[in-house]
Amino acid sequence: MSQDSQQPPEEVLREAQSLSRQLHEHNYRYYTLDAPAVPDAEYDRLLRRLQQLEKRYPALKTPDSPTQRVGAEPLPSFQQVTHAQPMLSLDNAFDNEELREFDRRIHTRLHADQDIEYVCEPKLDGVAVSLVYEDGVLVQGATRGDGRIGENITANIRTIASVPLRLRGTKPPGIAEVRGEVFLPREGFDELNRDAKNKGEKGFVNPRNAAAGSLRQLDSGITASRPLAMFAYSLGHVAAGIELKSHFQALALLKDWGFKVSEWVELASGIDACMAYYSRLAAKRDTLAYDIDGIVYKVNDLGLQEKLGFVARAPRWAIARKFPAQEEITSLVAVDYQVGRTGAITPVARLDPVFVGGVTVSNATLHNQDEVSRLGLCIGDRVIVRRAGDVIPQVVAVAEEAAPDTRKPILFPRTCPICDSDIVRVEGEAVARCSGGLYCPAQRKEAIKHFASRRAMDIDGLGDKLVEQLVDTGLINNPADLYTLTLDQLAGLERMGRKSAENLLTALEASRETTLTRFLYALGVREVGEVTAAVLAGHFRTLDKLATATMDDFIAAGGIKGMGESTASALLEALNNANPPPADDPVQWLQTLGVRGLSQVLAEKIAAAYPDISQLTSLTVDELRSGAKSRIEGVGPVIAQHIVTFFHQAHNLEVIDQLVNRAGIHWPDMDMKAEATPALPLEGQTWVLTGTLNTLTRDEAKERLQKLGAKVAGSVSSKTSCVVAGDKAGSKLSKAQALEVPVLNEDEFLERLESWVS
Ligand code: IVH
Repeated sequence: MSQDSQQPPEEVLREAQSLSRQLHEHNYRYYTLDAPAVPDAEYDRLLRRLQQLEKRYPALKTPDSPTQRVGAEPLPSFQQVTHAQPMLSLDNAFDNEELREFDRRIHTRLHADQDIEYVCEPKLDGVAVSLVYEDGVLVQGATRGDGRIGENITANIRTIASVPLRLRGTKPPGIAEVRGEVFLPREGFDELNRDAKNKGEKGFVNPRNAAAGSLRQLDSGITASRPLAMFAYSLGHVAAGIELKSHFQALALLKDWGFKVSEWVELASGIDACMAYYSRLAAKRDTLAYDIDGIVYKVNDLGLQEKLGFVARAPRWAIARKFPAQEEITSLVAVDYQVGRTGAITPVARLDPVFVGGVTVSNATLHNQDEVSRLGLCIGDRVIVRRAGDVIPQVVAVAEEAAPDTRKPILFPRTCPICDSDIVRVEGEAVARCSGGLYCPAQRKEAIKHFASRRAMDIDGLGDKLVEQLVDTGLINNPADLYTLTLDQLAGLERMGRKSAENLLTALEASRETTLTRFLYALGVREVGEVTAAVLAGHFRTLDKLATATMDDFIAAGGIKGMGESTASALLEALNNANPPPADDPVQWLQTLGVRGLSQVLAEKIAAAYPDISQLTSLTVDELRSGAKSRIEGVGPVIAQHIVTFFHQAHNLEVIDQLVNRAGIHWPDMDMKAEATPALPLEGQTWVLTGTLNTLTRDEAKERLQKLGAKVAGSVSSKTSCVVAGDKAGSKLSKAQALEVPVLNEDEFLERLESWVS
């Protein structure tokens, strides 16, 4: 007899059952309760063992086995399924008045004069599904389809980790139909789209489309690779044996069976309480982990529901109160290019004004050239604009291409639209920059605006418009020229009175007395914000010392040789999952981590290079391999290179010379008077970076956080302030979620960085 057909011996059967029970339990704790009980490695070990047993004895491979979540053989097409009870839709209410009318209708029909009790639920923006359980085992999953007939997507549904393959509890009904919404959490959506972007693919417009696309895969292996989740929101047909009085009880039962039910479900007595719930949830909308597009109100009492019945295809006992749209369609009228202080060229979409996400939007950033190609955008196209919360409006997709005769391609300029210098794009960087430097009036203007700004030289009365006027009229070319301006020159400017001119001269005079920190910040060296400026001033003490510093003065060469990339990365991974190191014997402790390639000799070198072993986790693979260390807190190789380059440019040295020696800008000697360091926005916080970021390297991200005062650690704990999760973020992300540590995706992170720096 071949092994395949062999019945497993009794003890194997028992082991498999035990593994299956444990895996279901861990899965439930992880995905439904968000409270994992064991490390991922333990889960993997159990799963591998069960897979082994099932391979040996295929009879063990039941449809509800935890191994069945990885996807099955691709299907040629989806079969049709007739729903035992039709899947209805909901009527909508777009304002409070319409909601009141709904409540009035219910009172009239029921001849009720007391407040009605409603269940308030978030309206999840995903895909409705119907799941059928027979004797507690999932046997069928289907889409809504036209409400009567849907598609059989059982193999895909099985891959969704928060869908129970078997109902929890001891007495499952003979048949139970559970309805709910399959959705893609925002984080999963961002991850999916970043992957698509990296591959040069279009990606999905929003999480709902991504969820729908993922569920309608004939190859369930693809569905399995998408981090879908499901919330249950009602019971369909249930075979006898279950007595329920209210919808709220039904939701409690669904939870007991092991489903995820939205944590925001609440009971409300009367329609005013329903409105208050709406306001509360609307305020939270942008902070939820998933998209919702409104609130669903349902009469709680099932007896009353039955009395109310249905009209056409919607129940009379429920209504959806929609939130304002976060996506609208409009036309792309033109694309302009903005030149930033560092020469970065940003394409900006000029749109037909459209009301979306609570404001009128007429411009949206297109980020960079790659983004424009990825979207396949042309001028004249109808585009989908999305603005969620206070996020900058984005063009997320082309809704409809313009007619071929009017459709104009977007041609990224080769030369700067302002100064005509070549635009260069460093390989591997998404940003293209004008190479004109301070020759470029746009960069010059931005550099002077920055120089004059409040936190830099604080020149009162020198606003953005005036800087532009001064540069356009040729009165100034660089910050040093500001100090050569005369009363007559200023008073002669359009829209400038004599009094304002005098005031400006007084402000310029006052600005000559400053601090080294402010002056360094004012110079506008790339990546040198206020905080780094203060650190540099404190470290070098004089401008001369900083200006003549070499890379060696910033970065100490490393003392570790012979560590391969895979060893370094395995070590960092192990460190992240390890308990804090004991103080006594770091060498021995490093070796207990069981990292391949980490010899005694290597462990000794590491311990010698990093006496504080707990610091190791904050290193990048490259830093760890070389043993290189910043000599100055928060100034890593990237910033150091910007500084060294800046002070090597003749024109920068010339402007500095004029500022100091001709204009007489001066500051107290650092050794005489300590400069107050400004409070750092992230002082006292610990951040963790995980996954791959697209627009910054890990090192850059780390440096920027450190500049803002944050510590960057390698592992997540309950003390972590925030986690930045890039592509393919893994266990650290899940741990952050489990510990409810705030998580930012790359876009959110970049936005925060900008807000802290400005
Ligand atoms: S109850 C008869 N509850 O909204 C009641 N639906 O417009 C039918 N939806 O197809 C659904 N969240 O996909 C219900 N908490 C929720 C919901 C919800 C989202 C979707 C569902 C349905 C659509 C109706």
